[in-house]
Amino acid sequence: MNLKQTVGIEAANYVKDGMIVGLGTGSTAYYMIEELGRRVKEEELSIVGVPTSIASRKQALDLGIPVKSIDEVSHVDLTIDGADEISADFQGIKGGGAALLFEKIVATYSKQVIWIVDEAKMVQKLGGFPLPVEVVPYGEEQLFRLFEAKGYQPTFRMINTFEKKITDCGHSIIDLHLDTIEDPFVLAKELDHTVGVVEHGLFLNMADTVIVGKADGPLTIQASKK
Ligand code: 5RP
Repeated sequence: MNLKQTVGIEAANYVKDGMIVGLGTGSTAYYMIEELGRRVKEEELSIVGVPTSIASRKQALDLGIPVKSIDEVSHVDLTIDGADEISADFQGIKGGGAALLFEKIVATYSKQVIWIVDEAKMVQKLGGFPLPVEVVPYGEEQLFRLFEAKGYQPTFRMINTFEKKITDCGHSIIDLHLDTIEDPFVLAKELDHTVGVVEHGLFLNMADTVIVGKADGPLTIQASKK
């Protein structure tokens, strides 16, 4: 079993009968959804999934997990999702799989959030992983130049040499190569107030629990939210 699989299965244990569960996106969340599918089938676990991407929605439906959109549920009990980087104070970068907008919306309306990662993603400070910024296509080249002028070393997320990656919501992604983010809260505020930015991958004070995949087994850490 690989580390992503061990944390995916471990996190799925937190899901109880009757819960409305936010289903994250990515190769780690994949294993969690697989395990929930197994439990629905073999243990008659009754849940409703709220997927954070078209891919996770399809996976859940294929496994027989009933799904609803975020607007069809009154609340979300628990969201389990992957992350690209988690700092020592449990702030995160997400969006490597381009699903950051739905992921942030679902996490925002969740009573509890669990992140599942392998240990390579635990860092002292954020920024080694390029920060995804989801932008509306109109004016995106202007925004790109603005980020360049600020020294953020932007690159458009591409699917091949000629085509930009387009998110499930029809937006582009600009990745910022920052190396180190000294104050994620200051940068988040700046991006929140930048015209044309739909959402960014700084997920701050969002995780309640982090499950880290290690060679000797998953380590569960309670994050102290500020
Ligand atoms: C998708 C995400 C993913 O959760 C993140 O990229 C981690 O993915 P993986 O588990 O494949 O490493 O934020 O937008």
